[in-house]
Amino acid sequence: MTDKTANQMWGGRFASGPDAIMEAINASISFDQRLAAQDIAGSRAHAAMLSAQGIITDKDAETIREGLLTVLSEIEGGSFQFSTALEDIHMNVEARLKEVIGEPAGRLHTGRSRNDQVATDFRLWVRDQADAAIAGLEALMRALLGQAEAGADWVMPGFTHLQTAQPVTWGHHMMAYVEMFARDKSRFEDARRRMNESPLGAAALAGTSFPIDRHATAEALGFDRPMANSLDAVSDRDFALEFLGAASICAMHLSRMAEELVIWSSAQFRFVVLSDRFSTGSSIMPQKKNPDAAELIRAKIGRIFGANVALMMVMKGLPLAYSKDMQEDKEQVFDAADNLMLALAAMTGMVGDMKANVPGLEGAAGAGFSTATDLADWLVRVLGMPFRDAHHVTGALVALAEGKGCDLPELSLSDMQGVEPRITEEVFGVLGVHNSVASRMSYGGTAPERVRQQVAAWTEKLG
Ligand code: ARG
Repeated sequence: MTDKTANQMWGGRFASGPDAIMEAINASISFDQRLAAQDIAGSRAHAAMLSAQGIITDKDAETIREGLLTVLSEIEGGSFQFSTALEDIHMNVEARLKEVIGEPAGRLHTGRSRNDQVATDFRLWVRDQADAAIAGLEALMRALLGQAEAGADWVMPGFTHLQTAQPVTWGHHMMAYVEMFARDKSRFEDARRRMNESPLGAAALAGTSFPIDRHATAEALGFDRPMANSLDAVSDRDFALEFLGAASICAMHLSRMAEELVIWSSAQFRFVVLSDRFSTGSSIMPQKKNPDAAELIRAKIGRIFGANVALMMVMKGLPLAYSKDMQEDKEQVFDAADNLMLALAAMTGMVGDMKANVPGLEGAAGAGFSTATDLADWLVRVLGMPFRDAHHVTGALVALAEGKGCDLPELSLSDMQGVEPRITEEVFGVLGVHNSVASRMSYGGTAPERVRQQVAAWTEKLG
């Protein structure tokens, strides 16, 4: 005789219920209740298919359908009592269904297992998150396009090694991030395409002897097709890893941009002013306005990439098919997804609100001999010098300016001719930052005209 405390779903062969510690380590309901809507959608599709195939009666299917809707509304309304003794969302839902509709509830689990159930629920959940990430990235790209359009010809310093390199345009800098976030978006789109196959009906691991229709359930749940191998269907979590991989790369891009905003908003740079909406003050230093949102976005990569590593480690040693280790897939992915969406939304808000300090950017653009390359290029183009010699002459002119404590355009013509006698007045035309950026018309270059083309192309693509 089975102990009353044995699990009502699988306790048939058990003489006693689990130890409290066993229950604590085993239960996932505290977190997998987030899969409730997906779980019920999966059960509805399964029940409808069972009746269409004549495996359960239409009447039972209808009773199950109505019961599942009741359970869903209880969960959504917050009145549902989740039970740790019932381990997970699947058994919580089924047990409540039994209370609501009685005997037909026991027929729902025909031809399926919690193994294909959880794989299906989790795929549906991750698929929604991929869609949310895509939408979040599109919103961010639109905010960046707004900045790029406004500042297609604002000049600012371009850096390598965080040392002034050459002048670039604000629009060009913004569009660099548009490119990165567009690739992030396509990574989520790729992952979504690959994950959009249904594990439902793989059952425990080997398929089932019932005449189920996996194509029907796949279609009902918006999957492109059923997964082709039942062992694979219940035992891989690569779809979640691809999501985390895409999320990690995206978080890395967000982090780099956040780092720039932290630097740019400092008193030393003053390239941008972040809005009050996305800044905080200091409780002791009244003058301070801190870029906390940017700093937190910068830090999010830690937990998101951490989730990726954690799930890789969970999966790497598992023999086929399902092992309980896989229950550890969810919390990490939930946390990573929540934080990615938050970071995307915060970055979109910050980018939309931020104000570039246009005169400050322009002043900085000309500092640090940023047009030295333009000078060298002029020596090549106009005087026919080999680039290496031109580089050498320009280096000497930079050293001269440095010695005089001035910038290149402030050298006199006779100073310049002292280094290279063939230099003419015309050279001053290329030493200005606006001419410098306007001349960089090569494909993908920083010229305002090029930036405007890119903005137009992306605006059209985003629709
Ligand atoms: N809570 C489990 C999980 O998240 C559901 C699958 C349980 N399957 C099993 N055979 N015990 O993975």
